[in-house]
Amino acid sequence: MDGHSNPTPILISSTPWLMDDLKLDDLQPVIKYGALAVLGLTLFRKALDARKDDIPIIGSFGLSSYWDAFKFIHAAPDLIQQGYERYPEGIFRIARLYRWEYIVCGPKLTKEVGNTPENILSFYQGVEETTQTKLTMGREIAENPYHQLTVRTNLTRNLHTLFPEVRDEIVCSFDDVLQLQGSDWKLFEIFPTMMDIVARVSNRLFVGLPLCRDKAYLENNVQHTVDVISSGMIISLFPEFLRPIAGPWISKKDKSNARALKILGPILEERLEKERELGTDWPGRPNDLISWLLEIAEGEQRTPLDLVLRILALLPNEASTWLRSILPQWLCPMHFFDLTIHPEHFLPMREEAERVVKEEGWTKAALNNMVKIDSFLRESQRINPGGPVIMQRRVVAKDGFRFSDGTLLPYGAFLSVASRPVHYDTLKYENAASFDGFRFERERVQYMAQHDTIDDTQDIFKRHMISVGVDHLPFGTGKHACPGRFFAATELKAMLAHIVINYDIKAEVEGVRPPDMVFGTIISPNPTGKVYFRKRQ
Ligand code: HEM
Ligand SMILES: *[C@@H]1O[C@H](CO)[C@@H](O)[C@H](O)[C@H]1NC(C)=O
Repeated sequence: MDGHSNPTPILISSTPWLMDDLKLDDLQPVIKYGALAVLGLTLFRKALDARKDDIPIIGSFGLSSYWDAFKFIHAAPDLIQQGYERYPEGIFRIARLYRWEYIVCGPKLTKEVGNTPENILSFYQGVEETTQTKLTMGREIAENPYHQLTVRTNLTRNLHTLFPEVRDEIVCSFDDVLQLQGSDWKLFEIFPTMMDIVARVSNRLFVGLPLCRDKAYLENNVQHTVDVISSGMIISLFPEFLRPIAGPWISKKDKSNARALKILGPILEERLEKERELGTDWPGRPNDLISWLLEIAEGEQRTPLDLVLRILALLPNEASTWLRSILPQWLCPMHFFDLTIHPEHFLPMREEAERVVKEEGWTKAALNNMVKIDSFLRESQRINPGGPVIMQRRVVAKDGFRFSDGTLLPYGAFLSVASRPVHYDTLKYENAASFDGFRFERERVQYMAQHDTIDDTQDIFKRHMISVGVDHLPFGTGKHACPGRFFAATELKAMLAHIVINYDIKAEVEGVRPPDMVFGTIISPNPTGKVYFRKRQ
């Protein structure tokens, strides 16, 4: 368990929350030999690749680009910022260990990435490069992600109906996890604390009571998430052709899936049996993820093991880890850090939440009127987008992909869109670098004060937490824009409203935001950062 005293290889040094559960000793040889194999086999190949196109390079070319590739681990945000400043509406590339990363900038080209279909710019192959889903979660998940349909349809459509369950679980889980007594301040490590709460609240919707409070079930979810991220990171260090060989040895998927099957298996057997007997229409059929999946699953997919893979893959921890950088955003430590160093936002949000709840009660519709809370969360995502780039894609069209500006990316190329630089662009946001929690709410109020007739097709009316666009990319934009965002926004807004009404919070050290961690293209809020809570006085 004591991961911190082990010598820590570079790749995970900045994500210590993984280390607690990782057996480092198992990984050392893999990393050592892996690194050697990697260097020997790929140095040569990439040197040749450099000549293949004339897209501008940020950093160096030729042999010293290998040094850049290592530097990338801590300097990626700076390199990408430099590139964006030089080519704000263009495309540049940066050296990675075995390949180039093409970075796309500006509204026009960003839209093109968002709207180009899977058979030309592949979202799944882009994600696969960093997560190695096939090896870490299961081939089935990567090959037919039908389970994702349930997020877009059933989950999102049921948010109104199921809101009372969300609300109930928020109240109980904060009580159980925080265990606050009297009027004393108590210090919490935000990341694991929120992981416990979010797991319970989300599972209440997915699998319901009593499983969503079952300790073994919840622990397995967390362990599974850790296994998937850590093994995916390590497998990604190998060059592509070695991954199928090294992967199965590193991946913990079989063990992890077997553990989940032991817990979920009996429930799934029972549900499958019921559907075999009674079809999809029987009294008391739960409105949960299992029913949603069974409505779509066919043939081999109707087995407990395949269903377990889907459930695990959709748990918010997992769905969001699947895009790696997003987990910390989802668990929202950043929102706490932003709130504790900008405490002037606290009381206005408390006033708003109390007023709205008094008028409308705790409903999903009431959340729409918590406009300060919504603006605060959107601003927090703008300032902390999780990394300098988003929307990873791979060119899968045999002839490559040509953007409207004439730039041609070769077959097999990996690309992504500059996101953080856009969020910090002073041409797009006033005082772009400063946190201004109510900016989106204020622009609407100002507009309404200045205009007699209100044209709500104006851009300022589209700046809610769930609105996506080329200037605001935390959820991506276009065809693959996160379908989980309605659920995420509902849960995050309901949690923040609950917190401001029921608790006081303050920074561990007044005015100090625990420093972010940088690892390649991930910028994570501090995973061990702490915040004080007490019962509202
Ligand atoms: C604040 C939390 C979250 C953030 C910031 C986030 C962000 C994203 C981003 C950036 C993408 C990819 C967009 C692209 O490449 O074009 C994405 C896709 C996706 N997200 Fe989320 N996400 C969050 C929470 C969730 C949750 C809770 C779920 C599930 C319940 C979820 C399910 C998905 C799925 C299924 C996709 C793939 C969409 C597709 O295949 O078209 N996300 N998300
Ligand atoms: C889930 O949504 C789909 C698409 O709207 C619908 O056909 C299906 O009946 C829903 N499943 C359940 C169990 O409600």
